[in-house]
Amino acid sequence: MRARMWSLRHVLTLSLAAGRLSGQGTERLALRPPMGFNTWNKFQCNVSDQLVRGMADAMVASGMKEAGYQYVVIDDCWQVARDANGRIVADPERFPLGMKALADYVHDRGLKFGLYTDIGPKTCAGRPGSSGHFDLDAKSYAAWGVDYIKVDWCHADSLIAPAQYARFRQALQRSGRPIVLSICEWGLNQPWDWGPKVGHLWRVTDDIEDNWRSLVWIVNSAAAHHGAAGPGHWNDPDMLEVGNGGMTAEEYKTHFSLWAIMAAPLIAGNDLRTMSPSTSEILLNREVIAVDQDPLGVQGRIVIDRGNGSQVWMKPLQDGGRAVALVNFRSDTAGVSVRWKEIGLPAGPASVRDLWAHKDLGSHEDRGTDFGTRLEMKVPPHGVVMLRVRAAP
Ligand code: GAL
Repeated sequence: MRARMWSLRHVLTLSLAAGRLSGQGTERLALRPPMGFNTWNKFQCNVSDQLVRGMADAMVASGMKEAGYQYVVIDDCWQVARDANGRIVADPERFPLGMKALADYVHDRGLKFGLYTDIGPKTCAGRPGSSGHFDLDAKSYAAWGVDYIKVDWCHADSLIAPAQYARFRQALQRSGRPIVLSICEWGLNQPWDWGPKVGHLWRVTDDIEDNWRSLVWIVNSAAAHHGAAGPGHWNDPDMLEVGNGGMTAEEYKTHFSLWAIMAAPLIAGNDLRTMSPSTSEILLNREVIAVDQDPLGVQGRIVIDRGNGSQVWMKPLQDGGRAVALVNFRSDTAGVSVRWKEIGLPAGPASVRDLWAHKDLGSHEDRGTDFGTRLEMKVPPHGVVMLRVRAAP
């Protein structure tokens, strides 16, 4: 029995690896965490050609494209039926010109186009899923010019997730078009174990909600799997809620900072056409985005949990520096401190830059002694101080 189990696992591993090697370069698709916009958090089923064109335009006009945002993704509810040949059909009222014309519009703006489907027979909103049609759907996506597909897990619970998603990926590969595969089975089947070989990103939890409690819950779950992430394969703590109104500006800053230090996909979920200055300041903070997109591709982790509601997070960066987030989960202001040895730097002087104040704080010397040489910052309630620290050469 043991031998049989081993061999089944072995076969699965080998076939996943083979799929990867024959991937027409798909393994090079998401060398940095994908950045973009998805319709679900703000618009749910209220999607249309006009909305998506508006988002593509706003992504360019707001400066988001220039800051690295790229994918414009339509989530659930774009699809209504299958035609006589089994091909998936977009809602003709909401997308009267069809998906190819919409993808062309997005591409013409230098952006990439994404869609959503489901492994099972129906999507979570009850639209037709891809069950029994993986190859046909992959062909439609390729013909339309789809660059990114989010694949959900509703009505699929009797199935084996790694095998289903591996089959979906193979169908994408057979389509001949490089397409990012976003696995969305909500962390139910330990996707951090097999996701890196199958897809480019995988959700680690159930859906995010636009409130602080949800954010804290997701961060705790996502932090545990930091070892699974790397260039081409990322933990996905879900799309951003920044700008949707359920949290304070301070909380949204913390949201964005933690996503960045976790090397999470940065998929905006707000209305890009009507962003407040505070929302665009957050989504367009290039210094924080640079932490997320750092080419070393290491997911940051909690290095210190003070047990009093404050944490220190650290992400090693390609230049040898460290991104550091001092996080205050409490509802009063707290002093949060860090020692260089806690973030893997030697005692001595290091330069410190504040990524939200956009200010060099100068050199701070941690002499490695017990008292008085740690760096301590005041952090507002539910807030964060995000730093870049580099040991002096
Ligand atoms: C959920 C998924 C959400 C959204 C929704 C659409 O399962 O986690 O992100 O895609 O389905 O119905």
